[in-house]
Amino acid sequence: MKTIIGNWKMNPGTFIEAKRLFEATKKIPTNSKKVELIIAPPHMFLRELSKGYRGTRIEFAAQDISRDQEGSHTGETSATQVHDTGSTHVIIGHAERRALGENEEDIHAKVLMALEAKLNPIIAIGESERDAHGDYIKTVRRQITTALDGIPAARFKNITIAYEPIWAIGAEHAPDAHAVHQMVLLVRKTLRDFYGEKAMKATRIVYGGSVNEENARDIFSVPELDGVLIGRASLDPIKFATIARAAAETSV
Ligand code: PGA
Repeated sequence: MKTIIGNWKMNPGTFIEAKRLFEATKKIPTNSKKVELIIAPPHMFLRELSKGYRGTRIEFAAQDISRDQEGSHTGETSATQVHDTGSTHVIIGHAERRALGENEEDIHAKVLMALEAKLNPIIAIGESERDAHGDYIKTVRRQITTALDGIPAARFKNITIAYEPIWAIGAEHAPDAHAVHQMVLLVRKTLRDFYGEKAMKATRIVYGGSVNEENARDIFSVPELDGVLIGRASLDPIKFATIARAAAETSV
């Protein structure tokens, strides 16, 4: 089973366009036993898209939540409010949120909030650069263990880790399958070291950063990788459909 997460970011500009994009995405043929499709539109469109959708093949994610439960937090959206829209998932710690000042403690608080509200967290991690000393390995390990601190092993079946190196987001090329595999192994090892074999096996790991219709098949060939998180190509239903087909064909 492969997971494909489409992160629409702050697109499109109007609800009419969002509906059109969703209608086209909805028509993408996938075998739901082989491919899980999760769409993350802007908060503004979540309720109407998810409540208007009668099928079961697509699930919905928010792109962020508040670290607080309720109260005086102008402009924020709580985990409970996101769950109430019919969403099942939430992306937490996306590099574009971290760039706005979100820190690792915020991310940990948001993961706890999500689980409490019955939302499955998709935790985005990834280094900003590949330094020669290998510090990026420490960075990735720390991002994982801080985000998951204190979470019981039984909850790991609800967790997805999205490895998204910042240098590959919105870039021209994704790293090759071998490079992605090295990092998947690092994420799995970190999970095993800190939370045990069972938690490691229960966690889904996806790759994100410049996945497109051309490299998807190569990335889906990475062993122990459960799927991809897609930005730009999720806004083009033809590209997205090609990626979904590659997922179905490489899924066991
Ligand atoms: P991209 O974005 O696919 O456009 O590189 C990925 C992401 O930011 O999650």
